[in-house]
This record gives sequence, structure tokens and C-alpha cells, in this order.
Amino acid sequence: MTNARVDADRLPPDVRLLAPWYADQRPDDLAAHVRRHGPLPEAGAEELAELVDDAGLRGRGGSGFPTAVKLRAVAARRPRRLGSRRAVVVANGCEGEPASGKDAALLHCAPHLVLDGIAIAATGLGASEAILCVHEGSPGLEPLRRHASARHDPVPVRIETVPARYVASEESALVQYLNGGPPVPTTAPPRPAERGVGGAPTLVDNVETLAHLALIARHGPTWFRALGTPDLPGTLLVTIGGALRRPGVVEIAAGTPIGDVLDLACGPTEPVHAVLSGGYGGAWLGLHDPATLRTPLTHEALRAAGSVLGVPTLLALPARACGLAQTAHLLRYLAGESAGQCGPCRFGLPAVADDVAAIVHGTPEARRAHGRLARRLDLVAGRGACAHPDGAARLARSALRVFAQDLKQHLAGQPCRAAAGAPVFPMREPSIPHLPAQRARPGTGARSR
Ligand SMILES: Cc1cc2nc3c(=O)[nH]c(=O)nc-3n(C[C@H](O)[C@H](O)[C@H](O)COP(=O)(O)O)c2cc1C
Ligand code: SF4
Repeated sequence: MTNARVDADRLPPDVRLLAPWYADQRPDDLAAHVRRHGPLPEAGAEELAELVDDAGLRGRGGSGFPTAVKLRAVAARRPRRLGSRRAVVVANGCEGEPASGKDAALLHCAPHLVLDGIAIAATGLGASEAILCVHEGSPGLEPLRRHASARHDPVPVRIETVPARYVASEESALVQYLNGGPPVPTTAPPRPAERGVGGAPTLVDNVETLAHLALIARHGPTWFRALGTPDLPGTLLVTIGGALRRPGVVEIAAGTPIGDVLDLACGPTEPVHAVLSGGYGGAWLGLHDPATLRTPLTHEALRAAGSVLGVPTLLALPARACGLAQTAHLLRYLAGESAGQCGPCRFGLPAVADDVAAIVHGTPEARRAHGRLARRLDLVAGRGACAHPDGAARLARSALRVFAQDLKQHLAGQPCRAAAGAPVFPMREPSIPHLPAQRARPGTGARSR
């Protein structure tokens, strides 16, 4: 394997994926990309798996699953006899989370890095097909098609569009859709690694994961581990939004404290009282607790703080907005986005959304709704075919904890004036700019307190 370090040493220390954008404010074409990063090495599946294992690469699609384990699972099922199906590689660039813009930003700013990741995985696995999935109507579709057609990869990348629904980009939904079915999750098993697209063992990876793979293959695990934490090495693309001066997508070393990440947006536009981490299926963190801003962005640290890294997003909630009312809006949205095929989503999520709405309005029903909510949340979490209801339950639980003072008021029949407020975060179309925020020096913005 060649070890083309090329320009990596020249990049700002915590910018790797978005380097072309920060350098020139435009994506590299193929020639510029090869000049910047060097040629893509070749590696067999086991060599690749060893590299990402040593690098400690974890999936960037939300769960943080070790990439090496998935690669090996697909490699183990490759054909050993004539007539069995060759592997398929699916790059998940759908970004179903409306609050997140990181995958769109990556595909816009560094498309060839993602295409490199798909190419090296497909070649290493001896795949018959490589598919890059993006949402229908994605504004980046045409440029992406042009970038893909400029390449001469051994396994050409096909670009597929998928309905822009929250659950359509869950991996089993994606596979079912590519197989001609509806874009809704299927009950596992078999997982895509066992039987996926066309019945073949299928590697489904997030586009950011694949872009990291392309850099690890060039520069090696030690280079990758130079940033981040031992448990979550490398950089993360994080969408920062809400009441911030410069919302957008930033690349940070994993483990950077929340306060330093928010500082990259040059401070809040108005007083802020909470942050939603991990997207709409994530969890609130209160800024009344000074520990919140010191919490490192890793799966483990956020879990210990009662939240989740998930799809890395940090949304600042303005103090004028009612956290419970905003949670009710988000729960209603999540209930409407479910595939409606499992009990917890079909009956549980609308009922949970109704209970939180009743609490928000402080009606006599509020106390009864509060009484049954905990039981309902227990019935919803962990009971669906996919993790969609778990995210909604996590969001609701965190709201009851973080906005406990407001909850008391609402239960006493004295809801705040903000209870009738409209949603402050985007519900359908992402309103957060997809392009990376201009890089600001950490510490230049006022903290979001
Ligand atoms: C409801 C739901 C929606 C999801 N949407 C996405 C998505 O838009 N993009 C994505 O990469 N992963 C999404 N995932 C995670 C995928 O199922 C899958 O784990 C991921 O694409 C694997 O990539 P990774 O290992 O690189 O993280 C979603 C999961 C759930 C439960
Ligand atoms: S849990 Fe909900 S979103 Fe997931 S498959 Fe079942 S109905 Fe669909």
C-alpha cells in the first residue's frame, strides 16, 4: 500500500475532510483532489479492516458502530462458490435528520473523498455494485453526478435518490427501497451485511465514515489517531444551529467540549438556555449546569451527561422559547415521520406527543398526562423494528428532566407565554445552511449562556 502523505501536513490541525473548502471555498475537481490528497491506494478487505480497526474508526451515521466489524462481516460472506452473490457497497448520504447538514456539506465540499471511500471499499470487497444514496430533490445531485462520472473506478458508483423521509435512510429501509420495496425499515435479521441489495452481503456506511476511510487508507491509523480521543479517534463533522450567529457545519477533533464547538459560531444571537444534541431523536442538555459546556463530544461523555452524540448536531434553544413546547413540536414531527408499521410508532408516538402537548397547555388533563407519560415511554423504547421510537422516548425523557422547573409551572396550570410558540427548529426542509460556517478561532465568541 502506498503511503501518500502529500498535503495532509499542511492542513489546519483539526480540518481534514473539509480541507478543500477551507482552502479555496470551492470543492476540488478530480485533478485538484489527487494533487491535494495523493492517489488512492488499493487494499484488500482484510487489510482495510485492519487499518480501520487500528484507527478505531466508528460509523458517523449516528450509532458509532465500529467500521471494521461491519467490513469483516461483509467480507466473511463474500462468494466462495460459483453463483453466489458478490458484495454491494451502499454509501448513505441521505441525511434524514432535518437538523443536520453535515453529509450535504461533505458531499458538496469534498465529493471525491466520499467517492474514494466508496471505491476503496468496493474494490477491497470485490463488490459488483457501488451505490451512493441521497435524498430526492437534493440540490447537490447534479454536481455529484458530474463528479462521479469524471472518475474511472473499477466499480463505477451509481447515484440513487431516496424519498426524503426521516426513516427512509435507516439502513434496512434503504436496502428494501433499493430492492424495489417501500422505504421503510424491515425487522432484523437478516442485517444488510448478511442479505442486502439483491440478496448480496451489503456494506452500508455513512458518507462521512467512507471519507474517513479514504484518508486512513492514505495516511494510516497513527495519523488518524493524532486527533480525537482513544475511544473516538479522528474528526467529526458537526452541525451547529439554532440561536447562533454563524450556524453551519464545522469539523472538529472528536472530544472537543461543547462550549468550544459553539464558540465556532461566534456566540449566540440571544440568550440561550438549553442545547439539543444528537438531532431530533437526541436529548436536551441544560445550560444552567456549567458542566454542559465542558462536556466532550464523544458517545460516552454525552451518554454520561444524559444525552447522545448520534448524528452530531448542537442546536441552541433561545431562552424565549419553551423547552416543553418545542419538545411537543418535535415529538409530533417524529410521530408523523414513523413508518407506522410497529405498535410503538403507530400508537405510542402519537400518544406520547399528545401527553406532552397536554402538559404544555397546562389543562386539567396535564397532571393525568404526566402520570401516564413515564409508563408510555417505557412501552415505546426498545420495542420497534428500528431505533426511531427510542430516539423519540429519549427526547421526551430529557425534556422532563432538563425543563423540570417549567414542568412544575405547567402542571400547576400556569404555562408560560411561550407555550403557544411556533417551532424554532426546522421541521421539514433543513433551514440550516449546508455549507460550513466560516472558521472562527475558538474563544472569540461569547459563550451561549
Ligand atoms: C430512523 C433512522 C434514520 C437513520 N437515518 C440515517 C441517515 O439519514 N444517514 C445515515 O448515514 N444513517 C442513518 N441511520 C443509521 C443507519 O441505519 C446506519 O446505521 C448507518 O447508515 C450506517 O453507517 P455508519 O456505520 O457509517 O454509521 C438511521 C437510523 C435510524 C434508526
Ligand atoms: S419502529 Fe417505527 S419507524 Fe421503525 S420500523 Fe417500526 S414503525 Fe417503522
